[in-house]
Amino acid sequence: MKIIAIANQKGGVGKTTTAAALGTVLSQQGRGVHLIDMDPQASLTSTFGKNDADGLLYQALASRGPLPVVEIADRLTLTPSSIDLASGEMRFVAQAGREYLLRTCLQKTSLPAGTTVIIDSPPSLGVLSTNTLAAATAVVIVLQPGGYEMRALARFIEVMDELKDLGVNPTLAVAGVILTNCQHRRRINDQVAQEVSRIYPVLGRIRAEADLMYATTDGTMLSLKKSNALDDYRGVITKLEEVLHGD
Ligand SMILES: Nc1ncnc2c1ncn2[C@@H]1O[C@H](COP(=O)(O)OP(=O)(O)OP(=O)(O)O)[C@@H](O)[C@H]1O
Ligand SMILES: [Mg+2]
Repeated sequence: MKIIAIANQKGGVGKTTTAAALGTVLSQQGRGVHLIDMDPQASLTSTFGKNDADGLLYQALASRGPLPVVEIADRLTLTPSSIDLASGEMRFVAQAGREYLLRTCLQKTSLPAGTTVIIDSPPSLGVLSTNTLAAATAVVIVLQPGGYEMRALARFIEVMDELKDLGVNPTLAVAGVILTNCQHRRRINDQVAQEVSRIYPVLGRIRAEADLMYATTDGTMLSLKKSNALDDYRGVITKLEEVLHGD
């Protein structure tokens, strides 16, 4: 099973939009996808008009039980999140094996064979992000061309190295970087793409598109008919499959 973490500790770079878009596009292409919202802000959850009013995700992690799975569309399911998850940052931190809660829960969750799992992470470097990275088989880093992005990327690489030094998921690989919300003809897009490509494959550039932004906030991404940004995400999937091929 492919388990892809969408990551960057920097906030507002397009992680949630990317998780939602990849899930939408992959499932519409006929692939089974399960999304996991590991952010207490629950943006991915609200993108699909769902909630976790009873805090079931927190309870599953705390008890190391199977994850709740909610149906969203054909071949697309979600583990929704809620603000309850925020207390996990404090409560799990002192526990032995705290990095592996999500991995354990996921192993106990029955999903159809061949399902691709995509995990959205919070904009922080705490227990929830570490759990995401510990459960993943590959990481996709999301950057939004602009100031401070390379610094955020450098910090993220340090964190990956620290995790490996600690023996947490030593085989975890960065599949590549997606540049999101790229404004038309901005020179910074090329500059950031060039700098990133010295370190990781650039999986694609996603055009800035108001319709995608509205669809994300209105919970209508699944019915978005024509979208340049979703086309760009389709290109990312092709590239991602090339990079992950042989895994
Ligand atoms: N391609 C795009 N075109 C237009 N707007 C976009 C695009 N991608 C992301 N956005 C917008 O940028 C903002 C931040 O995106 P998003 O919430 O996905 O980032 P995030 O990294 O998940 O944020 P956080 O760190 O807070 O979880 C949102 O308002 C989203 O709608
Ligand atoms: Mg987010």
